[in-house]
Amino acid sequence: MQNQQVTMEENVVPRETDVNRTMPEMTLQQRIDSYCKRTKFPRALFTGSFDDVFLSEGGGFIVGTWIMGNSYRVRSGYYGGYPDGYLKRIRALFPDKRNVLHLFSGKVDLVALPGATVDINSDNNPDFVDDAQTLEKVPLEQFDLVLADPPYSIEDAERYRTSMVKRNLVMRALGQRLRSGAHVAWLDQVLPMFKKDQFDMIGVIGIVKSTNHRFRVCSIFCRRPYEHSNPCRNPQDQ
Ligand SMILES: C[S@@+](CC[C@H](N)C(=O)[O-])C[C@H]1O[C@@H](n2cnc3c(N)ncnc32)[C@H](O)[C@@H]1O
Repeated sequence: MQNQQVTMEENVVPRETDVNRTMPEMTLQQRIDSYCKRTKFPRALFTGSFDDVFLSEGGGFIVGTWIMGNSYRVRSGYYGGYPDGYLKRIRALFPDKRNVLHLFSGKVDLVALPGATVDINSDNNPDFVDDAQTLEKVPLEQFDLVLADPPYSIEDAERYRTSMVKRNLVMRALGQRLRSGAHVAWLDQVLPMFKKDQFDMIGVIGIVKSTNHRFRVCSIFCRRPYEHSNPCRNPQDQ
């Protein structure tokens, strides 16, 4: 297991044949090692073992902080766009994921991390114009990594001319139809409410940009198995 090779293929909306192919699940330590190797950034992520309120059972956990540097640049110029380098880091942490969904996609940089896009605003030309709180038009079963970047506040939502998102509804929609072992990387100033029978929370990464920018957190969840063994955890923790 420790020596398994994992690669990320270019990914867009998945082909039918991709959906049922399974890859061995990476351990949390392998994810961190991949992050260090691919980004060449200093080791800023660690595994911990916590038995706390978020975890329905004890197990491994990724903790750390990403100092994003002094670049104010958002490549697309879109208000609230991902900070420069964020997608590269996420991609390095999840090199095994082939079918990525960008939720609240805005003008996400699909060169940095290819995937399908969902936004409520058709002006952003997403693959799916849909409300993240229901996701009725999105074939969620096909994706193994979801990146979420919602408006963080009412004021932010007003910038997009949308109403503020109910985070728990988004997590519920994801939890109802994502397949077991799928991950969600949720960037926000708030920890979204989630159901413990649907998700394990397996990581918290603090995101520090530059002076006068808000602190954020990337919370990482793994869809729990519908039955049998749990692919979210390090095998040795089960
Ligand atoms: C913080 S921005 C995302 C920016 C994106 N990460 C990027 O790099 O460009 C939030 C996005 O959420 C979209 N949005 C707001 N409410 C939504 C909803 N209920 N469902 C889907 N998208 C929504 C907005 O249109 C906006 O594009």
